[in-house]
Amino acid sequence: MLKEVNATRFITPLREGGSLPGLVEADDLGTYVLKFSGAGQGRKTLVAEVVCGELARRLGFRVPSLAVVGLDPVLGLGEPDERVQELLRSSGGGNLGMDFLSGALGFDPLAFPVDAGEAGRIVWFDALVNNVDRSWRNPNLLRWRGALWLIDHGATMIWQHNWPGAEASAARPYDASDHALARFAPDVAAAAADLAPRITEDLLAEVTAEIPDAWLADEPGFATPGELRRAYARPLLARAAVIHERIQGIQGIQGSQDSEGNGGTT
Ligand SMILES: Nc1ncnc2c1ncn2[C@@H]1O[C@H](COP(=O)(O)OP(=O)(O)O)[C@@H](O)[C@H]1O
Ligand SMILES: [Mg+2]
Repeated sequence: MLKEVNATRFITPLREGGSLPGLVEADDLGTYVLKFSGAGQGRKTLVAEVVCGELARRLGFRVPSLAVVGLDPVLGLGEPDERVQELLRSSGGGNLGMDFLSGALGFDPLAFPVDAGEAGRIVWFDALVNNVDRSWRNPNLLRWRGALWLIDHGATMIWQHNWPGAEASAARPYDASDHALARFAPDVAAAAADLAPRITEDLLAEVTAEIPDAWLADEPGFATPGELRRAYARPLLARAAVIHERIQGIQGIQGSQDSEGNGGTT
């Protein structure tokens, strides 16, 4: 179970990203980056954060701790920005909180070298979950205490937006040509050899068990949250075994112009 806290104070909106997360203080005295349940893609973005963040953590990546943050819309009453007020109003109940890394810097690929091993692990992981939001323009990587931390996994697992087509969607290759770490000769073969065998049904059951039931309720075609949890696990399990052969657009890797007929760009 993810930690559960309640927001006690809305500090400020964070404007760097696309989705307008907020910074809040909670009743455990922690400071959290809050992803609103009432934002654009809503709770599916939050589910993606939980599945990818908790999976990455179990594979040894640095990911800020996640929590479910209860929000009373009343907290937004004094907020001058109407967009923020609207988000607060529509996000009562549980939201996704991520431990705020105070003093973290945005990752700059020109200023901070990454070794081929670490680059390979991150590119492989992003290929696994089909993360389209770790480009050099928008790396969603933070530098904190001398190390790289992964954030923002909301734009992953595109198949969750169309479950009937999920299997076909998850069989498609991953285009890494714009990836923030593409320039560091990512050793995805080594990463796959180490990480792929660790993606098991048990591990994915543990990870998907972290998704709050409320974010899984009423999904068309699924009778129970448990069924939907298994639907999240299935494409990841299938992809883990093959995705390293389907990463396109980075040096040293032959793009697979294969039978799926997807030439690369997505
Ligand atoms: N855990 C964190 N610690 C410190 N800063 C963060 C953290 N999470 C996000 N940020 C900052 O807020 C920005 C927006 O957050 P992000 O998760 O990328 O949301 P968006 O979906 O809007 O892109 C990030 O680019 C980063 O500068
Ligand atoms: Mg972002």
